[in-house]
Parts: sequence; structure tokens; C-alpha cells
Amino acid sequence: MPTPAEIISNNIEGPTVFKEIYKLNPDYVPDVLPHRDEKISELTVTFRDVIIDPGRSSIRAVVVGRTGTGKTVTTRLFGSKFAELARSKRGLKVEYVHINCHRQRTLYLLTIELGNQLKLSVPSRGLSSQEVFSTIHDYLDRRNMHLIVTLDEFDYFVNTSSQEDIYFLVRLYDELATSIKRISYIFIVRDISTILSLDKAIRDHILRNIIEFQPYKSNELYDILLNRVNLAFYDGSVSDDALKFISEVNGFDKGGSGNARVSIETLELAGRLADRDRSPIVSLVHAKEANSRVNQESSSIIDEMKILDLHPILLLKSLINLVKRERKEYFTMGEAEEEYTNVCKLIGEEPRRHTQVYEYVRRLKLMGIISTQQSGKGIRGKTTLISLTFPISQDLENYVDKLIEGTLNIK
Ligand SMILES: Nc1ncnc2c1ncn2[C@@H]1O[C@H](COP(=O)(O)OP(=O)(O)O)[C@@H](O)[C@H]1O
Ligand SMILES: [Mg+2]
Repeated sequence: MPTPAEIISNNIEGPTVFKEIYKLNPDYVPDVLPHRDEKISELTVTFRDVIIDPGRSSIRAVVVGRTGTGKTVTTRLFGSKFAELARSKRGLKVEYVHINCHRQRTLYLLTIELGNQLKLSVPSRGLSSQEVFSTIHDYLDRRNMHLIVTLDEFDYFVNTSSQEDIYFLVRLYDELATSIKRISYIFIVRDISTILSLDKAIRDHILRNIIEFQPYKSNELYDILLNRVNLAFYDGSVSDDALKFISEVNGFDKGGSGNARVSIETLELAGRLADRDRSPIVSLVHAKEANSRVNQESSSIIDEMKILDLHPILLLKSLINLVKRERKEYFTMGEAEEEYTNVCKLIGEEPRRHTQVYEYVRRLKLMGIISTQQSGKGIRGKTTLISLTFPISQDLENYVDKLIEGTLNIK
């Protein structure tokens, strides 16, 4: 019988199918993106005046598509190559900045982040967003620089910011009395209705060019996966059956979600399962097991949950409690709030006010964690009905509890 130490040591030294596993990380930007050439061309045509006629206009494009359609990775790759080319071939100072509005949720945090990415030291206190922005603009003027700024997950900004802040951001040049327009934008959203719901005056400043990203078909996913296999795995260590299987189940044309992220995640897990079995090859069996484990929806949802603050998580916990206890699918806003208040009391947290809770509902909805609908006139007039978008598993419950514990600890 091997000792625990021997088991550990054997497994550390055990064989692996992975050559460079980090190339499967969601943040990794590969050099080529199969089936996104056309999108890169569209972006280039849209932004080429930044190079051909710099400063004349501030260009705006909206990139729209579901999760996992390559919006983030494609704009990143486009932006960095475009800026590089402008510098090396044209001697222009063009910088690309990518900001995630989910992390930087306010205009203020967003402008500070913009400053940071430009390596500009902006005092973190005492200045308004407007002042920070004009500091940035002065800096660009002094260096004769041009910027393409991507506001990724822009839905969050729209849904959490005031009308004035959105207005300020998108109408930049009416506020800053400058004639040379140095900042252009790419707005990434999941759903165009976010933009359509805005005031006309704002909408017209955003909706100039729309670039749509469609969910991937199976053959497209196959090429994407094959590329990652070559980057991240040892030669010949992934069977074609496994690849075909993962691309088929996820292909949009085959009833899947067309999500490249989930597909790559499944591929990685299949590799880990092969390692576990000490198999030199990722087989169809590994791919199937990986697929059933990567519960499509909940995996990406879990990924998103970890950036939530305490109170939205508490609201989520309340919904989980309700579903388990009442065995219903839909709950009224009132029921949800009542349970939320109980959950707060239980851990000694002051419950937030109604308007704030309503805000959490909106945020969770935006993240795809819950869905809402208006009730018919029947129950106590009109009310919002809330339901979770995923089935509750023990794992998920434990995960939510851990998140709550985690956020309580750092408070
Ligand atoms: N065409 C592609 N080629 C290679 N990898 C891709 C492609 N499209 C998406 N990916 C990968 O799939 C994952 C999800 O893509 P991402 O850009 O984050 O999607 P989105 O922003 O639309 O949700 C990332 O790991 C990304 O690198
Ligand atoms: Mg993205």
C-alpha cells in the first residue's frame, strides 16, 4: 500500500496532456481567432480614420452578442494590433485601452482606471470624474496621442449610472471644449435593447456602427478548439472524437449555446480528467464526462457570482431558500424582500431599502442569474415576478454560502 506521501508524490510527477495549460484561460488572447476575421475587418474599417485622419472625429461602435461569442477577445486583439500598426507603420501615437464596466462600475472608477492604464498618475481623491477626464485629455494633447477605449460589459454601466454620467461619457466632446477629438469608443453589450432604452440624445451618440457577433456553429467551435489544442496540449494528446463531441454539443446549429468559453472550459476539464486517469490521450469518454460536469449555465453563472457584493448575494440566497421551501418557480418582489430581510437578520446585517433591493434585482437579471416578468393584473395589482434561471444543486448552495462567508470576513 502506498503511503499518502507517495500518492502525492506520484501524482505530482504523474504524466500530463498539457503543454501550456494557461493558454486555455479565459483571459488569454491567442494570436489568431478562427472565424472572427470578418469582425476584425469590420472593426478596422470602422476605426480606420483614427489612422487616416486622426483627430477629426470621435468614432463609436457597438459590439453586440451573447456570452462566449468572442466579443472581448476579438476587440482586445483588434485594439492591440491596430494600435501597434498605427505606431510602427504610421508613426502615430495610438493607444488601446480595454475597461470592464463590471469591475469599474461608476464613471469615477472608470476614469481612474483609464488614467491608470495610460500610466498617468491621477490623484485618487479630490477630483471629479470630469476633472479626471480633462486631465487625461490634456495629457493626450501634450503627447499628441489618440485612444480607442473599449467599454466592455457596458450594459452594467448603463444600468447602474445616472443619466448625466452616461451623457457625459458618450458626449465627451460637447463637454470638453476641444477641437481635436482624441478618444474613440467601442461599447460592448450583450443585448442591443440596453442601448435602445437610452434617451435619444445619448443613443444617437452611441448607435453609429453596430457589429454583431453570432453564436458559434459546431464547425466553428471545432476550429477554435483545434487551435487551442495545438497551443495548450502535447501533440496527439487529444482525440478527434473528443473534439468533435465538444463542438457538436455546444454548436448553435446543433441546439447548443454557441459559447466558445464553455467549449474551452470543457476541453480543459476533459484534459484534467485524462490526467487523473493517467491517460496519455483525452478520449471521447473524458469529453463526455467533462461536458456533463460543466453544467453549461451554472458554470458561467458561478463565474459571474464571485464579483457580486454581499447584499446582492444575500438576495440570491433568499431566492434559493424560497425555491427550496415553497417549491415554486416564481416569487413576487414582496416575497423575495421578506425572505431577504430574514436572511439579513440572521447574520446581523441591516437590510437595504426597497429601491436598493430593486437595483440588485436589475443587476442579477442583467447577469442572467434571475429572470423577471410582470404579473398579470390578477395578484395584488401589477407586480414583478422573479425566478432563478438555473436549477439549484447542493454544490451551488454551498458555493453561495461560501461567498457570503467570504464577503463577511473581509468586511
Ligand atoms: N474565434 C475565437 N478563436 C479563439 N478563441 C476564441 C474565439 N472566440 C472566443 N474565444 C475564446 O472563448 C472564450 C470566450 O470569449 P470572450 O471573448 O470572453 O467572449 P464574450 O466576451 O463574447 O463573452 C475566451 O477564452 C476566448 O479566448
Ligand atoms: Mg466578454
